[in-house]
Amino acid sequence: MISPEQVDLSTEICGVRLANPTILASGVLGLSGDVLARVARSGAGAVVTKSCSLKPRVGHPNPVVVDYGAGVLNAVGLANPGVEAMVAEIRRAREMLAPAGVPIIASIFANSIYDFGTTARYISEAEPDLIEANISCPNVEEEFGQIFSSTPYVAGQVTRRVKSSTRIPVIVKLSPNVPSIADVARAVVAAGADAISAINTVGPGMLVDVETATPVLSNRVGGMSGPAIRPLAIRCVYDICAAVSVPVIGIGGVSDGRDAAEMISVGACAVGVGTAVYRRGIEVFGLITEELRQLMARIGLGSLADLRGRALPEGAPGKGGRRAR
Ligand SMILES: Cc1cc2nc3c(=O)[nH]c(=O)nc-3n(C[C@H](O)[C@H](O)[C@H](O)COP(=O)(O)O)c2cc1C
Repeated sequence: MISPEQVDLSTEICGVRLANPTILASGVLGLSGDVLARVARSGAGAVVTKSCSLKPRVGHPNPVVVDYGAGVLNAVGLANPGVEAMVAEIRRAREMLAPAGVPIIASIFANSIYDFGTTARYISEAEPDLIEANISCPNVEEEFGQIFSSTPYVAGQVTRRVKSSTRIPVIVKLSPNVPSIADVARAVVAAGADAISAINTVGPGMLVDVETATPVLSNRVGGMSGPAIRPLAIRCVYDICAAVSVPVIGIGGVSDGRDAAEMISVGACAVGVGTAVYRRGIEVFGLITEELRQLMARIGLGSLADLRGRALPEGAPGKGGRRAR
């Protein structure tokens, strides 16, 4: 019998230690250093900034986020103040978070492979603990403007560019909107990705206001997140962890401790939490951690490594805790 206090929830991503596996997912909060520090104080094991680009972006007009019960639809349009402002915010957050030892992950995106490299080099000046490359945005260099993560080849190319532009470990964030996320995962790992996060939003989806007979979002369509996408996210993380052995951050519909345990049992070494912040407030990180602790004690698991990969088939690269370096 294990008591909840005995359960060790600490984890590691590329040598960066997290006191617990909950991570603020990119986008729902995280534009300012102050907010990142508030999230960390509320119990997150690590925080991710909103994705930033080389130049500032205004994004789409309101409404940009709509809660439809089963989930959330959003088309923010990657609004952000640009990498220069983000460097300043990360430095502020670092000063506030250093005593607490909560790692900061800087999320970047770009519309060309070249700009991915420049943005990675620039953000490295802020010395985040890890860099997350959000490759779920359209590649303007490509004829049809497909998202970077839609083909293994392009996903590998952008990964290589980011890796050669920084000495900070790189997490590559994958989209679920592909025929085989395992193939994309293999390609980014072959190109040097140190870790993977999955998934980004699903879709696009659409909702219609029947009174006005118009789409609800100003952008007409948007990415789906929250509980509605959880089974898809679990399947993606399972496929990735059955294919590669780098650490994986499981994201998509994680709202409570049981959801987090499910993600970790298919091989994730940490969980991203986005939409649940809207539903349960900024305290969600502390709440999920406590629920996970209670659940693991009940099952009789003393550490996260004991839980990780339990639901993967024997011999899967992501099974067990030894790989989460
Ligand atoms: C309003 C909103 C904005 C988002 N912005 C970003 C972003 O800037 N960069 C990114 O990589 N993901 C972004 N995401 C995706 C989330 O980080 C996450 O991958 C997705 O929402 C699934 O997780 P969830 O179900 O816990 O929300 C955003 C999601 C939402 C709801």
